[in-house]
Amino acid sequence: MPFGSISAMGHMAFQTTKLEQSVFDATKVLGLREVERVDGVSYLAAASVHHELMYIDSAVDGVDHIGLVARDEEALADIHSRVVAGGYTVISEVPLETGIEKGFAFIGPEDFVYEIYLGMHEVAPTHSTFGPDRFGHINLHPKDVNASLRFLEDILDFRVSDVIGDDFAYFLRCNADHHGIALIAGRGSLHHHAWQTQNIADLGKLGDRLDLLRRQLIWGPVRHGAGHNIAAYFIEPVGDVIELYTDLEQIYDDDRPPVIWGADDNRWFNRWGAYRGQDFRDHGAFPVPRLTK
Ligand SMILES: [Fe+2]
Repeated sequence: MPFGSISAMGHMAFQTTKLEQSVFDATKVLGLREVERVDGVSYLAAASVHHELMYIDSAVDGVDHIGLVARDEEALADIHSRVVAGGYTVISEVPLETGIEKGFAFIGPEDFVYEIYLGMHEVAPTHSTFGPDRFGHINLHPKDVNASLRFLEDILDFRVSDVIGDDFAYFLRCNADHHGIALIAGRGSLHHHAWQTQNIADLGKLGDRLDLLRRQLIWGPVRHGAGHNIAAYFIEPVGDVIELYTDLEQIYDDDRPPVIWGADDNRWFNRWGAYRGQDFRDHGAFPVPRLTK
C-alpha cells in the first residue's frame, strides 16, 4: 500500500494560444492519443484514462492546473481539510473538467492551481506505433523552494527522495517513482512535464521525429543522478519543456533516507558528462492567474 495521500501524478493542464500546434506536438512528436475534444479543450493520454494532458484554447499561454490523484475517499477528505486549515483558497468543490468523478481545486503556492481527484474515467486501451506509457512527473521552479517543499510535505504528504545543495532543489515522491514533483529554485514557473517510456531507443526516435520537422532536442539523452532516469527534452509551443524518460529509480522503502548532493556536484543532473545547454532552465510556463472573487 502506498504511504501517501496522493497515489499518483494525474495530469497537466495548459492554456495555449496555439491549440493545433500543441495537439500536434503531443500526438505527432510525443506520441499521445487525443481522446476527446470538447469546447476548445483537447484531452490527451498515453495510459488508458480520459486524460493525462489537457490543452485549453486561450488568449494566453500558461499553466492552468496540476492534477493529482488522491489515494482514496479518506485521503481526498484529509487533503481538503489540510488545504482549508492551511489557508489556501479553494476555487472549486467539484472537478474543473469532464472525465473525473469527484474532486476539488485550490490555489497552492506561487499561484499554481492544484486539482485533487478520484475516479478518472477509463478508456479502452489502444496502441500507437510509438509513444510513452504514461505521465510521470513535473519540475517546478518556485521562487521560494522552502515554502513549496513544506506545502508538498505537509499538505500533500510527499516525501523527499533527493536534496541538492542548500535549499536549491528537492525531488519529492508520492509513490514508488523517485519523483512526482521536483522543486528547483527559479522564477516561479513550471519547467517541464515528463513521460515514461520503456526503451532508451524511444528517446532516439523522438530526436528523429524532431529532426524530420527541422527541430531538435534541447538536451539529452542524459543520465540523471537524482532519479537515475535517462532523459531527453524538447520545447513545446506553450514555452515549457517536455521530457521523455526511461529507467527512473523506483523506491519501495518508504523510509529510504534522502540522497544528498553537494551544491557543486554536477552528477545530480548528468552522470555521463557535464554538458547542458546554457538556456535549459530559461524555458518554462507560468501559472495563469485565477479570478477568485
Ligand atoms: Fe524531469
